[in-house]
Amino acid sequence: MQALANKRIILGLTGGIACYKSAEFLRRAQDMGAEFDVVMTQGAQQFITPITFGALSGRQVHTDLWDNSSSDNMAHIHLSREADAIVIAPASTHFIARLANGLADDLLSTLCVARGHCPLIIAPAMNKEMWANPATQRNIAQLRADGVHIIGPGAGDQACGEIGDGRMLEPLQLLAELIAFFQPKSLTGKRVLITAGPTSEPIDPIRTITNRSSGKMGYAIAQAAFNAGAEVQLVSGPVKLDAPYGVTRQSVESARDMHRAVMDLAPTADVFISVAAVADWYVVNASNQKLKKDQSQQAPKLEFAPNPDILASVASMPIAQRPYCVGFAAETEKLIEHAHAKRLRKGVPLLVGNLAQDAMNADNTQLMIFDEAGHNQWPVQSKTEAAQQLIMHIAQQLDPK
Ligand code: C5P
Repeated sequence: MQALANKRIILGLTGGIACYKSAEFLRRAQDMGAEFDVVMTQGAQQFITPITFGALSGRQVHTDLWDNSSSDNMAHIHLSREADAIVIAPASTHFIARLANGLADDLLSTLCVARGHCPLIIAPAMNKEMWANPATQRNIAQLRADGVHIIGPGAGDQACGEIGDGRMLEPLQLLAELIAFFQPKSLTGKRVLITAGPTSEPIDPIRTITNRSSGKMGYAIAQAAFNAGAEVQLVSGPVKLDAPYGVTRQSVESARDMHRAVMDLAPTADVFISVAAVADWYVVNASNQKLKKDQSQQAPKLEFAPNPDILASVASMPIAQRPYCVGFAAETEKLIEHAHAKRLRKGVPLLVGNLAQDAMNADNTQLMIFDEAGHNQWPVQSKTEAAQQLIMHIAQQLDPK
């Protein structure tokens, strides 16, 4: 199922150059299944036209409190009753001030005051001095206290040429925030440590030994944990993926680097999910210089030594420091037999198995869950959905209510 399937969103636009980003945000959220009604203030229409948003949303854009095209003139009431959330992006300094004071002098502000239980999410967008202004900060604090969900702003180059806090989040960041908003917050207050991707064992400064892990499963789990309210640290081998939104990523190369990074972070983690495909061996006689073909064309002789088992190391930490440990097993055959044995060998309460030939590099997966009670097969689903289900399952193990 798409992350925003069946979600009806009111997108409110107020005056700001960041309006152009909201068109892309709407399209990407539609890709995830969301449907939109768009409401624009007069200020917003100075930056982008209702025609753009009418064409993108497939619906008439609302701009006027006094528009009599709705039979009873009550668009400001009806719209939010049918919506799952109102997202104001961009939210201007002036609109934030109006919201904080409960003003209702145009359609969008009236709609917000009349929203009842419909959640309100705002994405501020303004010059850094306007953002830093004590009045704006007072208004933001008031809105937070009123239960409004504030996303961003980000920092960086601003349209006015200055640099600082106040940029509206980028379209994909807005999308990530919206998806996260709708997820149950089952891991609030928890710290989750995750390894993902392959490791890469140097042979010389140019060559390495690695594997085909894409990192997709571990990255999806990291995103799902953030969406569930956790503080997430991701220790990642070399992959081609962007860091999941809201997650702190530490990039490493070899298994020994990954081991060091994990052992530093594990004592303060509540959960450790070991998704990385860690090399079992490293090259003891790795060369500091590029290995050259010699005259006799003799192949170099590599010597190997075992890498530390990161998961087993964490699982055997003193109980007071030890996080709840989850292992992964990618097998090519006899999944059930191997995974049960692996769970016991690693000393972890939960092990997630899948068939390597189905899962490696794929977007879908079928997970099998192994614990003390036995095993349970989940359906074939996208890695995003599987990650969400796994995070919910882990949250239940931590807090079985
Ligand atoms: O031993 P095997 O590689 O099959 O075990 C897989 C599980 O153990 C995965 O969770 C993987 O991340 C973890 N592992 C590890 N350190 C290793 C080898 C595997 O953490 N050196």
